[in-house]
Amino acid sequence: MSKKIITIFGGTGAQGGGLARAILNDKSSEFAVRVITRHPESEKAQALAAMGAELTTADIDDKASLNRALEGAYGAYCVTFYWEHYDPEREYAEARSMAEATKEAGVQHVIWSTLEDTRKWVPLDDDRMPTLGGKYKVPHFDAKGAADQFFIDLGVPVTFLRASFYWDNFIYFGSGPKKAPDGKLYLTFPLDDKKMAGIASEDIGKCAYGIFKGGKANIGKTIGVAGEHLTGQEMAGALSKALSQKIIYNNVTPETFRGFGFPGADDLGNMFQFYRDFEEVCNSVRDVNVSRELNPELKTFDQWLAENAKRIPLN
Ligand SMILES: NC(=O)c1ccc[n+]([C@@H]2O[C@H](COP(=O)([O-])OP(=O)(O)OC[C@H]3O[C@@H](n4cnc5c(N)ncnc54)[C@H](OP(=O)(O)O)[C@@H]3O)[C@@H](O)[C@H]2O)c1
Repeated sequence: MSKKIITIFGGTGAQGGGLARAILNDKSSEFAVRVITRHPESEKAQALAAMGAELTTADIDDKASLNRALEGAYGAYCVTFYWEHYDPEREYAEARSMAEATKEAGVQHVIWSTLEDTRKWVPLDDDRMPTLGGKYKVPHFDAKGAADQFFIDLGVPVTFLRASFYWDNFIYFGSGPKKAPDGKLYLTFPLDDKKMAGIASEDIGKCAYGIFKGGKANIGKTIGVAGEHLTGQEMAGALSKALSQKIIYNNVTPETFRGFGFPGADDLGNMFQFYRDFEEVCNSVRDVNVSRELNPELKTFDQWLAENAKRIPLN
């Protein structure tokens, strides 16, 4: 019997790549992988092709290319690309295009990688955090959460997947420990003593594979994924052990974090504040046990560090 095709947006990226590899590494999988990429000649795309993925050249802004990419697909993994443009309006439109294209193609199971619309908990007139861009609290969360409605209104058979903070951000996103003028290394987050859900980005895709394997029973559900819920102090402790040098947790206020001035600092400051002030809301939906049932290989932070600590830049 021919395998059921899963078309993967962001297949050359962290989340979609994890899903593609999870399926391709399972030789008895009922699924085949079709990866959407704008650059089929890229190293990442070619590595997936070598594992057995079909590559399809498509761009979210080119509707005809999406129709081709989804033709005959049983499933689709939809993830948007906020950090390519830092534009929530654009992300919202990208999600709408994904919802429409999957509906038109008659895809039977869609996973939409979404996040909370934080405005449900922190309305725009709530002054505890600034409103950004005139209508958002956490732009890269809110636009995703608001876009859930596109999938609902169109009747797309969808599972809402809520990812958590990638530990890989310590390597690629500048979130790791930084050396201060006193020569010491500080991990700086505005989390107080609250626990934040984190995950190895590769595990998001492995959990998504579990959701596809679960099939129809998962349609209509919201499933959060996390490898562990950890305080800043706990992350600093684990980093110290893995790096064999002292990493000090530097707890700052969200105001201080927003003021750091790097692109997206205000968005991320509000995000960490949301994780801090709504710990239960964020963590209860990102259940580690559920994540491990979906993906028995789910890594703890220590396990992720054992493989990756050496790649974290310390400067
Ligand atoms: N970092 C975190 O902690 C975290 C946590 C939760 C959620 N997220 C969310 O994750 C999302 C990003 O996912 P990721 O980290 O898996 O991606 P990523 O590793 O940054 O890779 C970006 C992917 O997007 C694709 N892409 C970019 N522009 C595209 C376009 N116009 N049309 C089609 N494909 C396009 C790229 O494909 P090609 O270059 O091959 O075309 C690539 O596969 C963001 O929206 C972010 O908010 C991040």
